[in-house]
Amino acid sequence: MSAPNKSYDPVEVEALKPEVIERMRDEALAAFAAAADLDRLQEAKTAHTGGTSPLALANREIGALPPQAKADAGKRVGMARGAVNKALAARQAELEAERDARVLVEEAVDVTLPHDRVPAGARHPLTTLSERIEDIFVAMGYAVAEGPEVEAEWFNFDALNIGPDHPARGEQDTFFVEGADAASDGGSAADSGVVLRTHTSPVQIRSLIDREPPVYVICPGRVYRTDELDATHTPVFHQVELLAVDEGLTMADLKGTLDHMVQELFGGEGMKTRLRPNFFPFTEPSAEMDMVCYVCRGESVGNPDRPCRTCSSEGWIELGGCGMVNPKVLTACGVDPEKYSGFAFGFGIERMLMFRHNVEDMRDMVEGDVRFTRPFGMEI
Ligand code: DAH
Repeated sequence: MSAPNKSYDPVEVEALKPEVIERMRDEALAAFAAAADLDRLQEAKTAHTGGTSPLALANREIGALPPQAKADAGKRVGMARGAVNKALAARQAELEAERDARVLVEEAVDVTLPHDRVPAGARHPLTTLSERIEDIFVAMGYAVAEGPEVEAEWFNFDALNIGPDHPARGEQDTFFVEGADAASDGGSAADSGVVLRTHTSPVQIRSLIDREPPVYVICPGRVYRTDELDATHTPVFHQVELLAVDEGLTMADLKGTLDHMVQELFGGEGMKTRLRPNFFPFTEPSAEMDMVCYVCRGESVGNPDRPCRTCSSEGWIELGGCGMVNPKVLTACGVDPEKYSGFAFGFGIERMLMFRHNVEDMRDMVEGDVRFTRPFGMEI
């Protein structure tokens, strides 16, 4: 029987020498201390505690040792690894606390900061007023129709019975884009000249050509005339045009429609319109339409004690033009005037905005200064 082998020498295994184990431990502790953030610490952790770290490799050597040497080396390596893990956990906690503190500072929300440094804008009152008018008619079953702003002269004038000699065709009012084909008599859209539309009435023509009667359309849009911009004129402005073509329509329908519109727009008792004879080539008979002054409701008339600035104590405010669609217009659009009749009206949105909101200078409406727009809010 052989005696236990007492002749082993633990220092034979280089990686398990006490000073080597200590150096491994110290290097690990130094690496953790040097790790400036959690990512670096993760790298140091892999290097010093991972499966291929010096201490893990040293640990693997232990198994081959005789019992006593195994116990000694196991204790040394175990203590070194314990110290390393403890240091790692402490550094981890330290760096996490630092990160949490930094996140709290960096992501802090200062609830006392002013929240509306960039103030919200507002829609232009011309747009909201125009939409308001559209809504009134859409509620009655009308469709919204649009046409081009660069328009054939035929649509803008000829089809509306505005002949070549009509003053509105003179260069004073109209922006011409292209002249008529020299060889043509301007008798059709294809070979007539091109203008910036001077009114929304050409959308009447387009609607009658595109749709089968009955036609009920409301046509808002931008129009152009060669006026200088001043307090009461602007070369670009907005109109709303209305057209109804059906069997049996009369001027009573026109009047009722106008009354309904001013009641909806201005509200309250006693809002109504009146018609004064006038002339437009595209309506026959034609009229100028006024509405009762929505401020004094007519009570300032002949009453010096109650003067009204809105209507200059006249009791009425002029709105625009209207009439029964001229049979020539219906014919030009291929609609049988024996079967169908219609009414139309048109008016300027700028003018209505001016008297409805006491805007005194047209330039305020076009300059785009948000201080003008904002008080109107989103809805007027
Ligand atoms: N288009 C005309 C203008 O700009 C206004 C107008 C008058 C339109 C009578 C109409 C109407 O529909 O029937 O002056």
